[in-house]
Amino acid sequence: MNDRNASEPLIVLRGLKKAYRTPAGDFYALKGIDLKIWPGEFVALLGRSGAGKSTLINMLAGIDRPTAGEIWIGGKAIHRMSEGKLTQWRGREVGVVFQSFQLMPMLTCAQNVMLPMDFANCYGTPRRQYARACELLGAVGIAEHADKLPSAVSGGQRQRVAIARALANDPVFLVADEPTGNLDSRTAEAVFDVFQQLVAAGKTIFMATHDRDLAARVSRVLHIEDGLIVEDMRPASPAEGHDLVAEMEA
Ligand SMILES: Nc1ncnc2c1ncn2[C@@H]1O[C@H](COP(=O)(O)OP(=O)(O)O)[C@@H](O)[C@H]1O
Ligand SMILES: [Mg+2]
Repeated sequence: MNDRNASEPLIVLRGLKKAYRTPAGDFYALKGIDLKIWPGEFVALLGRSGAGKSTLINMLAGIDRPTAGEIWIGGKAIHRMSEGKLTQWRGREVGVVFQSFQLMPMLTCAQNVMLPMDFANCYGTPRRQYARACELLGAVGIAEHADKLPSAVSGGQRQRVAIARALANDPVFLVADEPTGNLDSRTAEAVFDVFQQLVAAGKTIFMATHDRDLAARVSRVLHIEDGLIVEDMRPASPAEGHDLVAEMEA
């Protein structure tokens, strides 16, 4: 299993379970996930609607807590952290990208990117934070829109702002929940290219997606079904990735 002996896994999940309370009793959305993610991996999580993708993403992002099992990220026991520590950790160590962008509509693109720096008390003065925000917006190809409101830019550009915001505090890894779900295929492609560049620059990315074409181009494909990982593959090439994804979805 460990073909990356050169390094320790960045993420280790052991027996991870998540139950939601419902009037009909506890419903297990994750039923026991064991998983290791290595630094530099670009992981696509595939699965039908309701399979547990968002639940797993929320565990990795520290947005929600497991019912049982362990989450280790960068050597830290996320499952044992207090609420306060978890909030602090999330703000500094993880970048999150959602399908619906979730930008603050009253703030400019640059101010949206500055927000996590401000929360985590990073990068000093507003002036330095602004400079860093502009740099990150440049890195995702939209420097010229820094001072516009999100409503004044396109959907693809909004998702780039959200990616820049996720990078604000230079996190080790990014999680993305169907980040291209609201974009047309050409725009989705361009946003995916940004993710690929980030992986090339050393980031680790865990992305839930419905998009088979994109999933075929990552370094590892996981398939989740009814709260369990049922397949885990590392395609050797995009062509092989395409076949594997097609088989999974069959
Ligand atoms: N807050 C919640 N309360 C009860 N059930 C939930 C809640 N959130 C998700 N679920 C259920 O958990 C399962 C997994 O949901 P989710 O992780 O959102 O799946 P996916 O992202 O793959 O579509 C689904 O059956 C869903 O209905
Ligand atoms: Mg979902």
